[in-house]
Amino acid sequence: MKANAGGLRLGVNVDHVATLRQARGTDYPDPVEAARVAMRAEADLVTVHLREDRRHIQPADVEAMRAEPGLRLNLEMANVPALVEFAQRLRPDEVCLVPERREERTTEGGIDAVGRFAELQPTVRALADAGIRVSLFIEPSADAVEASARMGAPCIELHTGAYAEAAGAARAREVGRLRDAAEQGHALGLQVNAGHGLNLENLPGLRAVPWLDTLNIGHSIVARAVWVGLAEAVREMRRAMAALGAAPAAEAES
Ligand code: PXP
Repeated sequence: MKANAGGLRLGVNVDHVATLRQARGTDYPDPVEAARVAMRAEADLVTVHLREDRRHIQPADVEAMRAEPGLRLNLEMANVPALVEFAQRLRPDEVCLVPERREERTTEGGIDAVGRFAELQPTVRALADAGIRVSLFIEPSADAVEASARMGAPCIELHTGAYAEAAGAARAREVGRLRDAAEQGHALGLQVNAGHGLNLENLPGLRAVPWLDTLNIGHSIVARAVWVGLAEAVREMRRAMAALGAAPAAEAES
């Protein structure tokens, strides 16, 4: 794996701590406390998706996280005016623009950076003007990477959902798509992140994908936390990521 100078960073997505809270309408478990625990366990940043239907994270959670000293916050959101205004007011460190359909169980597919270029570009500019580092959650396709760069986004997050679900030859094909998109993104000067569906089992396959800066991982860490606690689940993932970065030289060039 051709690595970034600073090493692979982990963004811990705590949405599903809020899912558990919302399931019973209680005030626990608190995703803000989860964010603190994740940062103490040496997550590099905390990621939350403020969905339009508010099914897990609430605006007050994001506001409370923003007020936490030392917490680097990545807000995932759809490109809709109310959320853009919310982000401009709150100024999270990073915003990742994602597609959103109300009926979906989770974010299915990347944002249509080509077809929605004209709507996305002003948002990318407005958020950048507010001092926010903007990322686009895209499919690992050449058109989407090219459009993201043309739009002026400094950062892309490659959707790893198809990779995570694929097996055998199909998984190898998905690794190839991710590798090509990462090479292209890096060549265009973009920071390349990745996420969705990553877990301890499928993480090692990303060894062949170069230039990754940050992995955003949520569901598998929160699920694992049921058995080992959140801090240990974060540390386990960090150890797995460190092993990824330590690929032997021969593999690193593949
Ligand atoms: N990255 C983005 C842009 C996402 O929308 C999500 C899911 O909210 C994730 C990463 C994390 O995915 P998972 O919960 O499957 O690890």
